[in-house]
Amino acid sequence: MKHISVAIDGPSGAGKSTLARRAAAEMGYLYVDTGAIYRTVALGALRRGVAPTDAEAVESILSDLDIRLAYNPEDGLQHMHLNGEDVTEEIRLHEISQHASKISAIPGVRAFLLELQRDLARNHDVVMDGRDIGTVVLPQAQVKIFLTASAQARAQRRFLELQQRGQQADFDTVLRDIVLRDEQDSNRPIAPLRRAEDAVLVDTTHLDLEQSLQAILTAIRGGDRE
Ligand code: DC
Repeated sequence: MKHISVAIDGPSGAGKSTLARRAAAEMGYLYVDTGAIYRTVALGALRRGVAPTDAEAVESILSDLDIRLAYNPEDGLQHMHLNGEDVTEEIRLHEISQHASKISAIPGVRAFLLELQRDLARNHDVVMDGRDIGTVVLPQAQVKIFLTASAQARAQRRFLELQQRGQQADFDTVLRDIVLRDEQDSNRPIAPLRRAEDAVLVDTTHLDLEQSLQAILTAIRGGDRE
């Protein structure tokens, strides 16, 4: 049976994870958060004392990283396991974001994770979110959405999210980090963040969560009938 793939790409803080997770639950599809996979690689490198900019050193430790996605049967949430340890919470730490952005520019890292992501889409109906899902990982996806919002709006949301998690945050630092990550993710030579030509653009700057979700569900329900 052919499975349905919904690719959702966009810059950090656009609301991808929340919206993709809810859209997947609504459709009965598996939600795959690919940023969490890059974050897990970044944590693995950090724990081994490897700088995320040292491509050769990072590539040399990849075969030691046993990365698995596990789905909690109760809430359906994606948990990340690194060499047998559940690191779902730890990969959300603020410093891991910058490390993940740097590590994701390394060609060997992207190649290492490509099949893992494609395998999930081969075996399940998925809503997969990331930066290059519609362009590189699943170019045949039946539905592609490019989800974005202004940097200010994204920084504001990330700031509130960090506060809710009880993490120390300063708005200007969060905004600066968002702009820096946009730059890194969009300007890397390999699989940069960009809108696929056939992706539906959803700009959530002036939309609340429910309006954004409806825009996404409309795109999915329109696209998966083709
Ligand atoms: O979505 P996120 O913020 O959790 O992603 C963390 C980093 O991983 C992000 O800065 C860019 C990178 N990433 C990527 O390069 N390709 C993906 N498909 C997903 C994430």
